Amino acid sequence: MDGIHKKEAKAGLSAFALLLAITLPWLGYSLLCLPQRDSVPADAYVETPGQCKLIALTFDDGPRRSTTTALLDGLAERGVPATFFLIGEQVPGNEDILRRMDEEGHQIGIHSYTHVKLTGLNRADFSEEVGRTRTVLKNALGHNDFLLRPPYGMVDAGVRRRAGAPIILWSVDPEDWKDQDGEREYQQIITEAKDGDILLFHDIFPTSVETALRVVDTLHAQGYYFVTIPDLFAARGIPLKNGEVYWNAYP
Ligand code: NI
Repeated sequence: MDGIHKKEAKAGLSAFALLLAITLPWLGYSLLCLPQRDSVPADAYVETPGQCKLIALTFDDGPRRSTTTALLDGLAERGVPATFFLIGEQVPGNEDILRRMDEEGHQIGIHSYTHVKLTGLNRADFSEEVGRTRTVLKNALGHNDFLLRPPYGMVDAGVRRRAGAPIILWSVDPEDWKDQDGEREYQQIITEAKDGDILLFHDIFPTSVETALRVVDTLHAQGYYFVTIPDLFAARGIPLKNGEVYWNAYP
């Protein structure tokens, strides 16, 4: 073997080693930590899977074209899936954003049609808020497997009875709507975040989008993986049932 061939063989070997180094952690993580998914690899960004610390990002009150699109771009760059609880009346004209969410592996949920309290509503009014949003989402996406997050996290017996979906609340709330102070939100989340948490953001504020992506980068570096709500609970062996309320999936 002459010098050039040796070099080529060496280069081939190191390329193979690199490929293995990239593929193996992901493969291990997929097999050990996540239920098998059809298409989209969840959180393919992290290189060292460690102990599979999982967190779910959730975003309420969208879609809003400018901020939601910026968020989807940032999540796509990082290979991170999230869960979106949408306002029904904001869907018309934004169906392409919903389809993008779907295609990129995000989970979609209902937040209500006009962002009102769902507690104390009679059957017809509840249906105007939740049923109508479900129809709008179904028409845009062609499937019907939407979670529910009632506005303000307000739940009563009527909401539980009529939900027709698992009710997903949260465990870390930076109150990003209040002062839109990205640094304060970031510090609070980084301090509080732990394995199994559900983080609450609103993807209608530019600061929230920036903060969420900053949080992703920091927690990735700490060995966390980001997963959708169904994947989080599946990974913890907790079945999601219609009308039940969930705040976290702590191990
Ligand atoms: Ni809301």
